[in-house]
Amino acid sequence: MVARALTHALVGLEARRVEVEAHLQSGIPGFAIVGLADRACQEAKHRVRSGIASASLEWPNKRITVNLAPAALRKEGSGYDLCIALAVLAASRQVPADRLWEHAAVGELALDGRVRPVGGTLALAEGARRHGLRRVLCAAESAPEAGLAGIEAFPVHHLAQAVAYLRGEETIEPAEPPELEEMLSDAPDLADVRGQERGRRALELAAAGGHNLLLVGPPGTGKTMLARRLPGILPPLTREEALEVTRIHSVAGVLEAGRPLVMNPPFRAPHHGVSAAAVVGGGTIPRPGEASLAHRGVLLLDEMPEFPRNVLEALRQPLEDGFVAVSRVGGAAIFPARFALVGTMNMCPCGGRGDPAVECRCSVQRIASYREKLSRALLDRFDLVVAMPRPRAVELAAAGGEPSAPVRERVIAARARLAALPALRSAAATELLDRAVEKLPLSGRGRARVARVARTIAALAGSASVETEHLAEALSYRSPRELPAA
Ligand SMILES: Nc1ncnc2c1ncn2[C@@H]1O[C@H](COP(=O)(O)OP(=O)(O)OP(=O)(O)O)[C@@H](O)[C@H]1O
Ligand SMILES: [Mg+2]
Repeated sequence: MVARALTHALVGLEARRVEVEAHLQSGIPGFAIVGLADRACQEAKHRVRSGIASASLEWPNKRITVNLAPAALRKEGSGYDLCIALAVLAASRQVPADRLWEHAAVGELALDGRVRPVGGTLALAEGARRHGLRRVLCAAESAPEAGLAGIEAFPVHHLAQAVAYLRGEETIEPAEPPELEEMLSDAPDLADVRGQERGRRALELAAAGGHNLLLVGPPGTGKTMLARRLPGILPPLTREEALEVTRIHSVAGVLEAGRPLVMNPPFRAPHHGVSAAAVVGGGTIPRPGEASLAHRGVLLLDEMPEFPRNVLEALRQPLEDGFVAVSRVGGAAIFPARFALVGTMNMCPCGGRGDPAVECRCSVQRIASYREKLSRALLDRFDLVVAMPRPRAVELAAAGGEPSAPVRERVIAARARLAALPALRSAAATELLDRAVEKLPLSGRGRARVARVARTIAALAGSASVETEHLAEALSYRSPRELPAA
């Protein structure tokens, strides 16, 4: 007796249809899983067997072969458990095979038969819908996420419940897709930051134009604090963008419990001990890295010179292209990675430089080696380089600055202007830019980036054209003076 059930395998963010075939034969009892299943997938044997026993169902005393087709596609992880269990039960006529065939099923089984959520449920449910299925059975925790795919997602807590539902003995209400507004969470507010007017201005520019920002200064001046407030002044994601970001976060298994849809622009701040693969993505079956988790949001590299050089260099390609291409034995995948990069650093290893009240004791060599960790090519990708001096006592004693909400309104207005009609550059401004190329000097990329920042400045000012003042401000953020000398 052969029965089949449907699920999907993920290759990157893309779901491929997988048929789970269960074949029961008479002979010496046994249980084999074939079809390029990895170790976690092989261990399904134990979970499925215990799960079926715990659900007070009968384990067929036969030779059982489960085939995951197509056999050429690598299968990874524990998400096939539920589907395998249901296929075995259908093959032994304990659930109706035709009704099972109308559902996709995804979920890990606990030894007591409970159904646990697995990563990537949204992408799987979208794949199921594309392949013409209308229903998916999944863990209760991932049902709202699956419902976002426009498919009926039936939350099942236990294998026994899935069986009762398929037999028609129990009805389950499909999960309601989440309310978009409820998915928004609070970000830290700019009102907490005192002083640092230039830093705040650069943050607003970064938000409006999606520019990369480097904050340089002595310890404790609010660099990290300011960087963390960038997502709060970005416009909320549109529904399409939210789905795109959620798909990535779901595949990586970092969705917050109770928040099936990511509506806030993401904020990622990996520790400097992170590996290159964790930043750009990797693994035998490719998984998104921090750069992709920050897609449509912010990637913060706090204390940037502490990051290993290969990690920083690995970011150069996604910074330029807006995506990461990972190619592994388990398949090739493309992950989107369009984020605003924010870096913070001190001016020297001891942190004293740039603070008039502190004497820096770093030797010239130490400063040079600190600075050399950042290649010119990487620094060239920062459109806005800003010094964060120690705030004066009066500034710290003063009330907080402007809160995030009005800043966000300006950012949204500027973005609309940039999208509608990017301002043209006046002749005088172009001349200034040409002179800067010679004097600074500016690379070809540098020139294009300065021009983009100037456009953002003009859009924020509501100006119809890019004037010399806008260009001059844009050029002021490129100045290498802000950086410790090499
Ligand atoms: N401009 C500021 N306005 C208000 N609070 C500030 C400001 N600067 C620093 N602080 C206070 O100091 C704390 C430390 O600031 P933060 O971590 O941002 O410093 P930093 O510049 O990143 O320093 P480091 O170089 O050591 O990482 C903040 O949590 C905040 O309480
Ligand atoms: Mg800091």
